[in-house]
Amino acid sequence: MKRIGVLCSGGDAPGMNPNVRAVVRAGIEAGLEVWGIERGYSGLIKGALAPLGSHDVSGLINRGGTILRTARCAEFMHAEGRAQAAATLRARGIDGLVVCGGDGSFTGAQLIYREHGIPIAGTPGTIDDDLCGTDHTIGFHTAVTTAVEACDKIRDTADDHDRIFVVEVMGRRCGAIALETALAAGAEVVLLPERPGLGPRECAQRLRHAREQGKTSMLVIVAEGAGKGEAVTKVIADALPDAEVRCSVLGYMLRGGVPTVNDRILATVTGVDAVHALLERGAGCCHHIGVIANRVVRTPLSEVVGRPKIIEADLVALVDVTAGLRPWQSG
Ligand code: F6P
Repeated sequence: MKRIGVLCSGGDAPGMNPNVRAVVRAGIEAGLEVWGIERGYSGLIKGALAPLGSHDVSGLINRGGTILRTARCAEFMHAEGRAQAAATLRARGIDGLVVCGGDGSFTGAQLIYREHGIPIAGTPGTIDDDLCGTDHTIGFHTAVTTAVEACDKIRDTADDHDRIFVVEVMGRRCGAIALETALAAGAEVVLLPERPGLGPRECAQRLRHAREQGKTSMLVIVAEGAGKGEAVTKVIADALPDAEVRCSVLGYMLRGGVPTVNDRILATVTGVDAVHALLERGAGCCHHIGVIANRVVRTPLSEVVGRPKIIEADLVALVDVTAGLRPWQSG
Protein backbone atom coordinates (compact mmCIF):
# COMPACT_ATOMS: atom_id res chain seq x y z
CA MET A 1 0.00 0.00 0.00
CA LYS A 2 1.62 3.27 -1.11
CA ARG A 3 -1.21 5.76 -1.20
CA ILE A 4 -4.35 6.14 0.91
CA GLY A 5 -7.31 8.50 0.85
CA VAL A 6 -9.24 10.07 3.72
CA LEU A 7 -12.74 11.55 3.66
CA CYS A 8 -15.41 12.78 6.05
CA SER A 9 -18.97 11.72 5.35
CA GLY A 10 -22.44 12.36 6.76
CA GLY A 11 -23.26 14.90 9.46
CA ASP A 12 -20.15 16.78 10.54
CA ALA A 13 -18.79 16.44 14.06
CA PRO A 14 -16.25 18.29 16.21
CA GLY A 15 -13.11 16.16 16.10
CA MET A 16 -13.20 15.40 12.38
CA ASN A 17 -10.29 17.83 11.86
CA PRO A 18 -8.10 16.14 14.49
CA ASN A 19 -9.02 12.79 12.92
CA VAL A 20 -7.91 13.96 9.44
CA ARG A 21 -4.74 15.39 10.98
CA ALA A 22 -3.93 12.06 12.65
CA VAL A 23 -4.49 10.10 9.43
CA VAL A 24 -2.24 12.41 7.43
CA ARG A 25 0.56 12.53 10.01
CA ALA A 26 0.47 8.75 10.65
CA GLY A 27 0.33 8.02 6.94
CA ILE A 28 3.34 10.21 6.16
CA GLU A 29 5.16 8.69 9.13
CA ALA A 30 4.54 5.26 7.58
CA GLY A 31 5.90 6.40 4.22
CA LEU A 32 2.51 6.69 2.55
CA GLU A 33 1.04 9.43 0.40
CA VAL A 34 -2.25 10.65 1.87
CA TRP A 35 -4.91 12.19 -0.36
CA GLY A 36 -7.74 14.32 1.03
CA ILE A 37 -11.14 13.80 -0.59
CA GLU A 38 -13.57 16.72 -0.51
CA ARG A 39 -17.19 16.53 0.60
CA GLY A 40 -17.35 12.83 1.37
CA TYR A 41 -18.17 10.27 -1.31
CA SER A 42 -19.29 12.99 -3.75
CA GLY A 43 -15.65 14.09 -3.91
CA LEU A 44 -14.72 10.59 -5.07
CA ILE A 45 -17.44 10.55 -7.69
CA LYS A 46 -16.50 14.04 -8.93
CA GLY A 47 -12.73 13.51 -8.65
CA ALA A 48 -12.29 16.31 -6.07
CA LEU A 49 -9.19 15.10 -4.23
CA ALA A 50 -5.59 16.12 -3.77
CA PRO A 51 -2.49 15.01 -1.82
CA LEU A 52 -2.10 16.40 1.70
CA GLY A 53 1.25 17.25 3.27
CA SER A 54 2.06 17.47 6.94
CA HIS A 55 1.79 21.25 6.84
CA ASP A 56 -1.74 21.03 5.40
CA VAL A 57 -3.02 19.67 8.71
CA SER A 58 -1.17 22.04 11.00
CA GLY A 59 -3.38 23.75 13.54
CA LEU A 60 -6.31 21.34 13.10
CA ILE A 61 -6.14 19.67 16.51
CA ASN A 62 -8.23 22.43 18.08
CA ARG A 63 -10.46 23.41 15.15
CA GLY A 64 -14.12 22.51 14.76
CA GLY A 65 -15.49 21.17 11.52
CA THR A 66 -13.40 19.46 8.82
CA ILE A 67 -11.11 21.07 6.23
CA LEU A 68 -12.26 18.34 3.81
CA ARG A 69 -15.89 19.36 4.29
CA THR A 70 -18.48 16.60 4.36
CA ALA A 71 -21.75 15.68 2.71
CA ARG A 72 -24.41 13.05 2.41
CA CYS A 73 -24.17 11.46 -1.05
CA ALA A 74 -27.28 9.82 -2.48
CA GLU A 75 -25.41 8.85 -5.69
CA PHE A 76 -23.06 6.68 -3.66
CA MET A 77 -25.96 4.55 -2.53
CA HIS A 78 -26.28 3.36 -6.15
CA ALA A 79 -23.90 0.85 -7.74
CA GLU A 80 -23.03 3.23 -10.57
CA GLY A 81 -21.94 5.92 -8.12
CA ARG A 82 -19.76 3.46 -6.24
CA ALA A 83 -18.26 2.23 -9.52
CA GLN A 84 -17.35 5.83 -10.42
CA ALA A 85 -15.83 6.33 -6.99
CA ALA A 86 -13.78 3.13 -7.29
CA ALA A 87 -12.59 4.21 -10.74
CA THR A 88 -11.38 7.51 -9.28
CA LEU A 89 -9.44 5.66 -6.58
CA ARG A 90 -7.88 3.29 -9.11
CA ALA A 91 -7.00 6.12 -11.51
CA ARG A 92 -5.14 7.90 -8.71
CA GLY A 93 -3.47 4.71 -7.48
CA ILE A 94 -5.16 5.02 -4.09
CA ASP A 95 -5.28 1.57 -2.52
CA GLY A 96 -6.91 2.18 0.85
CA LEU A 97 -9.55 4.54 2.25
CA VAL A 98 -10.17 6.01 5.69
CA VAL A 99 -13.83 6.96 6.13
CA CYS A 100 -14.70 9.23 9.07
CA GLY A 101 -18.46 9.03 9.48
CA GLY A 102 -21.44 7.25 10.97
CA ASP A 103 -23.63 4.26 10.21
CA GLY A 104 -24.81 5.53 6.84
CA SER A 105 -21.26 6.28 5.71
CA PHE A 106 -20.09 2.84 6.79
CA THR A 107 -22.96 1.22 4.91
CA GLY A 108 -21.57 2.73 1.71
CA ALA A 109 -18.00 1.90 2.67
CA GLN A 110 -18.86 -1.75 3.15
CA LEU A 111 -20.49 -1.82 -0.29
CA ILE A 112 -17.48 -0.35 -2.11
CA TYR A 113 -15.29 -2.88 -0.30
CA ARG A 114 -17.50 -5.79 -1.34
CA GLU A 115 -18.05 -4.60 -4.92
CA HIS A 116 -14.60 -3.19 -5.73
CA GLY A 117 -12.23 -4.55 -3.09
CA ILE A 118 -11.32 -1.09 -1.75
CA PRO A 119 -9.76 -1.62 1.72
CA ILE A 120 -11.60 0.46 4.33
CA ALA A 121 -10.80 1.71 7.82
CA GLY A 122 -13.73 3.53 9.42
CA THR A 123 -13.42 6.04 12.24
CA PRO A 124 -16.61 6.89 14.23
CA GLY A 125 -17.30 10.50 13.23
CA THR A 126 -20.80 11.44 14.39
CA ILE A 127 -22.18 13.38 17.35
CA ASP A 128 -24.99 10.82 17.76
CA ASP A 129 -22.95 8.20 19.64
CA ASP A 130 -25.10 5.52 18.03
CA LEU A 131 -22.34 3.13 16.91
CA CYS A 132 -21.43 -0.11 18.61
CA GLY A 133 -17.72 -0.99 18.39
CA THR A 134 -16.71 2.08 20.42
CA ASP A 135 -17.61 3.48 23.84
CA HIS A 136 -18.22 6.87 22.26
CA THR A 137 -18.08 8.47 18.83
CA ILE A 138 -15.96 11.44 17.77
CA GLY A 139 -17.95 14.61 18.44
CA PHE A 140 -20.28 13.20 21.07
CA HIS A 141 -18.39 14.57 24.06
CA THR A 142 -18.15 18.03 22.50
CA ALA A 143 -21.86 17.98 21.62
CA VAL A 144 -22.84 17.05 25.18
CA THR A 145 -20.46 19.67 26.60
CA THR A 146 -22.07 22.32 24.37
CA ALA A 147 -25.57 21.17 25.35
CA VAL A 148 -24.80 21.21 29.07
CA GLU A 149 -23.29 24.70 28.86
CA ALA A 150 -26.50 25.85 27.14
CA CYS A 151 -28.67 24.14 29.77
CA ASP A 152 -26.71 25.78 32.59
CA LYS A 153 -27.57 29.15 31.04
CA ILE A 154 -31.20 28.18 30.53
CA ARG A 155 -31.38 27.05 34.15
CA ASP A 156 -30.56 30.62 35.25
CA THR A 157 -33.53 32.14 33.46
CA ALA A 158 -35.80 29.21 34.35
CA ASP A 159 -35.03 29.81 38.03
CA ASP A 160 -35.45 33.60 37.72
CA HIS A 161 -38.86 33.31 36.06
CA ASP A 162 -40.14 30.15 37.75
CA ARG A 163 -40.44 28.50 34.34
CA ILE A 164 -40.32 25.00 32.92
CA PHE A 165 -37.96 24.74 29.93
CA VAL A 166 -38.06 22.05 27.29
CA VAL A 167 -34.66 21.67 25.59
CA GLU A 168 -34.51 19.65 22.37
CA VAL A 169 -31.18 18.09 21.34
CA MET A 170 -29.98 16.20 18.26
CA GLY A 171 -29.18 12.52 18.06
CA ARG A 172 -31.39 11.29 15.21
CA ARG A 173 -32.85 8.03 16.56
CA CYS A 174 -30.44 7.75 19.50
CA GLY A 175 -30.98 9.28 22.95
CA ALA A 176 -27.35 9.32 24.06
CA ILE A 177 -26.85 13.10 23.75
CA ALA A 178 -30.12 13.76 25.61
CA LEU A 179 -29.32 11.24 28.33
CA GLU A 180 -25.84 12.51 29.19
CA THR A 181 -26.97 16.14 28.86
CA ALA A 182 -29.84 15.49 31.30
CA LEU A 183 -27.51 13.82 33.78
CA ALA A 184 -24.83 16.50 33.64
CA ALA A 185 -27.28 19.42 33.59
CA GLY A 186 -29.37 18.02 36.44
CA ALA A 187 -32.53 17.97 34.34
CA GLU A 188 -35.71 16.86 36.05
CA VAL A 189 -36.94 14.71 33.15
CA VAL A 190 -35.43 13.31 29.94
CA LEU A 191 -37.50 11.99 27.02
CA LEU A 192 -35.73 9.29 25.02
CA PRO A 193 -36.69 7.29 21.93
CA GLU A 194 -35.39 4.27 23.85
CA ARG A 195 -37.96 4.91 26.65
CA PRO A 196 -41.31 5.27 24.82
CA GLY A 197 -43.19 4.68 28.09
CA LEU A 198 -42.21 8.13 29.35
CA GLY A 199 -43.80 10.49 26.85
CA PRO A 200 -44.99 14.12 27.09
CA ARG A 201 -48.11 13.27 29.08
CA GLU A 202 -46.27 11.16 31.67
CA CYS A 203 -43.66 13.92 31.81
CA ALA A 204 -46.37 16.50 32.57
CA GLN A 205 -47.66 14.34 35.41
CA ARG A 206 -44.19 14.21 36.97
CA LEU A 207 -43.85 17.98 36.63
CA ARG A 208 -47.28 18.52 38.17
CA HIS A 209 -46.35 16.46 41.24
CA ALA A 210 -43.10 18.37 41.59
CA ARG A 211 -44.88 21.73 41.35
CA GLU A 212 -47.45 20.64 43.90
CA GLN A 213 -44.51 19.92 46.22
CA GLY A 214 -43.13 23.40 45.65
CA LYS A 215 -40.57 22.96 42.83
CA THR A 216 -40.81 26.16 40.78
CA SER A 217 -38.43 25.70 37.82
CA MET A 218 -37.49 22.59 35.88
CA LEU A 219 -35.65 21.38 32.77
CA VAL A 220 -36.97 18.71 30.43
CA ILE A 221 -34.44 17.38 27.88
CA VAL A 222 -36.00 15.92 24.73
CA ALA A 223 -34.06 13.79 22.28
CA GLU A 224 -35.23 14.69 18.78
CA GLY A 225 -35.97 11.01 18.19
CA ALA A 226 -38.51 11.17 21.04
CA GLY A 227 -40.36 14.18 19.67
CA LYS A 228 -40.24 17.84 18.77
CA GLY A 229 -39.48 20.22 21.62
CA GLU A 230 -42.29 22.58 20.65
CA ALA A 231 -44.84 19.73 20.62
CA VAL A 232 -43.72 18.53 24.05
CA THR A 233 -43.90 22.12 25.31
CA LYS A 234 -47.53 22.38 24.17
CA VAL A 235 -48.54 19.14 25.91
CA ILE A 236 -46.95 20.32 29.16
CA ALA A 237 -48.45 23.83 28.89
CA ASP A 238 -51.92 22.37 28.26
CA ALA A 239 -51.55 20.00 31.22
CA LEU A 240 -50.16 22.70 33.53
CA PRO A 241 -52.10 25.85 32.59
CA ASP A 242 -50.80 27.81 35.56
CA ALA A 243 -47.15 27.13 34.62
CA GLU A 244 -44.99 29.16 32.23
CA VAL A 245 -43.41 26.71 29.78
CA ARG A 246 -40.79 27.63 27.18
CA CYS A 247 -38.75 25.74 24.58
CA SER A 248 -35.18 25.93 23.30
CA VAL A 249 -34.00 23.81 20.35
CA LEU A 250 -30.20 23.45 20.46
CA GLY A 251 -30.06 21.88 16.98
CA TYR A 252 -26.99 22.53 14.86
CA MET A 253 -25.12 24.31 17.63
CA LEU A 254 -24.23 20.76 18.72
CA ARG A 255 -22.46 20.01 15.43
CA GLY A 256 -19.85 22.76 15.75
CA GLY A 257 -17.34 24.12 18.17
CA VAL A 258 -13.80 23.46 19.27
CA PRO A 259 -13.41 19.72 19.99
CA THR A 260 -12.95 18.83 23.67
CA VAL A 261 -9.84 17.05 24.90
CA ASN A 262 -11.75 13.76 24.94
CA ASP A 263 -12.73 14.15 21.29
CA ARG A 264 -9.25 15.29 20.24
CA ILE A 265 -7.72 12.19 21.81
CA LEU A 266 -10.39 9.82 20.48
CA ALA A 267 -9.96 11.33 17.01
CA THR A 268 -6.18 11.04 17.16
CA VAL A 269 -6.07 7.48 18.47
CA THR A 270 -8.60 6.19 15.96
CA GLY A 271 -7.06 8.12 13.06
CA VAL A 272 -3.60 6.68 13.67
CA ASP A 273 -4.90 3.14 14.08
CA ALA A 274 -6.95 3.45 10.90
CA VAL A 275 -3.70 3.90 8.98
CA HIS A 276 -2.07 0.97 10.80
CA ALA A 277 -5.10 -1.24 10.17
CA LEU A 278 -4.91 -0.55 6.43
CA LEU A 279 -1.19 -1.32 6.40
CA GLU A 280 -1.46 -4.46 8.53
CA ARG A 281 -4.63 -5.92 7.01
CA GLY A 282 -4.20 -4.75 3.42
CA ALA A 283 -6.84 -6.06 1.06
CA GLY A 284 -8.66 -7.73 3.96
CA CYS A 285 -9.26 -4.46 5.79
CA CYS A 286 -12.90 -3.51 6.16
CA HIS A 287 -12.87 -2.52 9.81
CA HIS A 288 -14.22 0.08 12.20
CA ILE A 289 -11.70 1.57 14.61
CA GLY A 290 -13.08 2.42 18.04
CA VAL A 291 -12.02 2.75 21.66
CA ILE A 292 -13.54 0.49 24.29
CA ALA A 293 -12.40 0.70 27.93
CA ASN A 294 -9.43 2.83 26.80
CA ARG A 295 -8.24 0.23 24.30
CA VAL A 296 -8.27 0.60 20.54
CA VAL A 297 -10.62 -2.01 19.05
CA ARG A 298 -10.91 -3.02 15.42
CA THR A 299 -14.31 -4.46 14.52
CA PRO A 300 -15.35 -5.80 11.10
CA LEU A 301 -17.68 -3.21 9.56
CA SER A 302 -20.20 -6.01 9.03
CA GLU A 303 -20.57 -6.20 12.83
CA VAL A 304 -21.06 -2.43 13.19
CA VAL A 305 -23.28 -1.42 10.27
CA GLY A 306 -26.98 -1.48 11.09
CA ARG A 307 -26.39 -2.37 14.75
CA PRO A 308 -27.15 0.78 16.76
CA LYS A 309 -25.63 1.01 20.20
CA ILE A 310 -28.02 0.59 23.14
CA ILE A 311 -27.85 3.44 25.66
CA GLU A 312 -26.98 2.71 29.30
CA ALA A 313 -30.18 1.82 31.13
CA ASP A 314 -28.60 2.49 34.53
CA LEU A 315 -27.75 6.04 33.43
CA VAL A 316 -31.43 6.56 32.63
CA ALA A 317 -32.30 5.45 36.15
CA LEU A 318 -29.69 7.86 37.55
CA VAL A 319 -31.49 10.82 35.97
CA ASP A 320 -34.70 9.81 37.74
CA VAL A 321 -32.98 9.17 41.07
CA THR A 322 -31.01 12.43 41.13
CA ALA A 323 -33.72 14.70 39.68
CA GLY A 324 -35.21 15.18 43.14
CA LEU A 325 -38.74 14.41 42.03
CA ARG A 326 -39.07 10.90 43.31
CA PRO A 327 -39.79 11.62 47.00
CA TRP A 328 -42.51 13.98 45.86
CA GLN A 329 -44.18 11.53 43.53
CA SER A 330 -47.21 10.06 45.25
CA GLY A 331 -47.58 6.32 44.81
O1 F6P B 1 -26.33 12.37 12.36
C1 F6P B 1 -25.96 13.59 12.90
C2 F6P B 1 -27.12 14.54 12.90
O2 F6P B 1 -26.72 15.74 13.48
C3 F6P B 1 -28.35 14.03 13.65
O3 F6P B 1 -28.21 14.14 15.06
C4 F6P B 1 -29.41 14.91 13.07
O4 F6P B 1 -30.71 14.38 13.22
C5 F6P B 1 -28.99 14.95 11.60
O5 F6P B 1 -27.57 14.79 11.58
C6 F6P B 1 -29.35 16.23 10.88
O6 F6P B 1 -29.04 16.00 9.50
P1 F6P B 1 -28.75 17.24 8.52
O7 F6P B 1 -27.42 17.80 8.89
O8 F6P B 1 -28.70 16.59 7.14
O9 F6P B 1 -29.86 18.23 8.69
